Amino acid sequence: MKDLLRTSDLTPDDLDRLLALAAEAKADRYVGRGLLQGRTVVLYFTKPSTRTRVSSETAVVELGGVPLLVRPDELQLGRGETIEDTARVLGAYASAIVIRTFDDEDVRRVAAATEVPVINALTDRHHPLQSITDVFTLREVVGDLPGRRLAYVGAGNNVAHSLLEACALAGVDLALAVPQEYQPDPAVVAVAEKLATTSGSRIEIGSDPVAAVRGACAVYTDVWLSMGDPPEARSARLRTLAPYRVTPELMARALPEAVFLHCLPAHRGEEVSADVIDGPRSRVFQQAANRRPVMHGVLRALLAGRLTGWPVS
Ligand code: CP
Ligand code: NVA
Repeated sequence: MKDLLRTSDLTPDDLDRLLALAAEAKADRYVGRGLLQGRTVVLYFTKPSTRTRVSSETAVVELGGVPLLVRPDELQLGRGETIEDTARVLGAYASAIVIRTFDDEDVRRVAAATEVPVINALTDRHHPLQSITDVFTLREVVGDLPGRRLAYVGAGNNVAHSLLEACALAGVDLALAVPQEYQPDPAVVAVAEKLATTSGSRIEIGSDPVAAVRGACAVYTDVWLSMGDPPEARSARLRTLAPYRVTPELMARALPEAVFLHCLPAHRGEEVSADVIDGPRSRVFQQAANRRPVMHGVLRALLAGRLTGWPVS
């Protein structure tokens, strides 16, 4: 595997291996030190980021490398240089390229034009690094995953898409409660359903939050307006999604030991009430902290064998 563009690029074995590498990096943040010695990793971010950018930069440093953040207005891309020419040139200098942008097709074009690994750090359709972290966190919290039920309540967005794919790979049953207006992309659902057939997990897509959380060991939500959504859609989204807020009452319908997850950033009083995200069931900061070892594991997995002198066992 050269790139990580979406979660379904992984096989179940790849995912297991990434989870194992992440666990190693969580126990010892300098495991694999020297892998990136004297090398750079380019991070090209066209949208804001707290967790993804800083966990990525940190993981690169832990592996001995230098992260180079480049913003769109700093590259010649903004002056008409093509994505392909840019990717080819960046790949001649750097050991990997991490991209956060809008259109998935742009990330695919970068990956196709360069020899070095390309990692999707969030697009309008996918957020693979987040979903790998979500599975990692869920496993820390509940142990064995097959047969467990996770509920996602809110808008069918990039985070929901990647969660669909990750749960299907990991054998987790996923129940989505999303309003008709903000359903997930049917093409992504079809990919996840195919993976779920192999792993034996179940995907339920409905619009009733109470039905979704019944029997769930974790309840997950995300912002109602994503960075790639038009800002003018905000008030309509707030209105439509109001019944999908994760409240203590909704949490009470899940399993008694159910935890609350959120990729962050969160908007208290919108998709989640403050007493849930700041309450005893919340695992959101454990989840956020896990972004670092997961990125560390992803870099090791993708760069193993490409860079001389450091084998990954
Ligand atoms: N969850 C996540 O990707 O956060 P950032 O937007 O801060 O990177
Ligand atoms: N769905 C959100 C996730 C942020 C990490 C967005 O794309 O803005």
